[in-house]
Amino acid sequence: PRPFIVAIDGPAGAGKSTVSKLLARRLGFALVDTGAIYRCVALMASREGIAFDDDAKLGELLGRVRIHFQVVGEENHVFLGTEDVSGEIRTPAISMGASQVSGRPVVRAGLLALQRRLALETEAGAILEGRDIGTVVFPDADAKFFLAADPEVRARRRFEELFQKGVDSSLEAVLTDQTQRDAADSERTVAPLKAADDAVRVDSSSMPLSDVVRTLEQEIERRR
Ligand code: C5P
Repeated sequence: PRPFIVAIDGPAGAGKSTVSKLLARRLGFALVDTGAIYRCVALMASREGIAFDDDAKLGELLGRVRIHFQVVGEENHVFLGTEDVSGEIRTPAISMGASQVSGRPVVRAGLLALQRRLALETEAGAILEGRDIGTVVFPDADAKFFLAADPEVRARRRFEELFQKGVDSSLEAVLTDQTQRDAADSERTVAPLKAADDAVRVDSSSMPLSDVVRTLEQEIERRR
């Protein structure tokens, strides 16, 4: 039988990565951070001097993408080949690059099989976090969630997360970057950020993330 698939979508900073990580640990599920995959494509393009809108070169690059996730200590690390790029993909330049390459249909299509394979090759189950998991990558996921939160709350969380990871930034810069990426992610024509009709919506603006995890876990247990 297929592993149990959980889709968690939502805008930047809604708590997806924290919630997914805790949930994956509690359930013993693998975690597929699809944003990290788009970030890896942007990192490869940037290193090779490929413009983020050069479809021909991006298409060729996609054939060479080798990504895997591995839990190191408490964190879900992402590897490009054998190189741990977990820190390097979080810079503001690569964040913008990821948002740009993710708007190219050739990139979205090219990453579909990879995302599905990373989830389906797991044993117990997989949590995929992203923007279009419940709508495009796994429309038949066993449980779908859409996490939302007010923009100021999201920017503050993102800032604190970056700070803890040792990435130098400011709250203003994070909010500006977030506003631009939200607009780009919601307005693009291919797979725009939008809740699946059958997704459970959870607004975490005034809810501790531990409560969000509990809410999601209960819903998942109900469906298992
Ligand atoms: O989630 P994260 O902020 O790491 O994602 C980086 C970028 O990748 C997002 O701004 C979004 O443009 C893109 N993305 C996407 N579809 C996904 C996951 C991420 O378009 N499923």
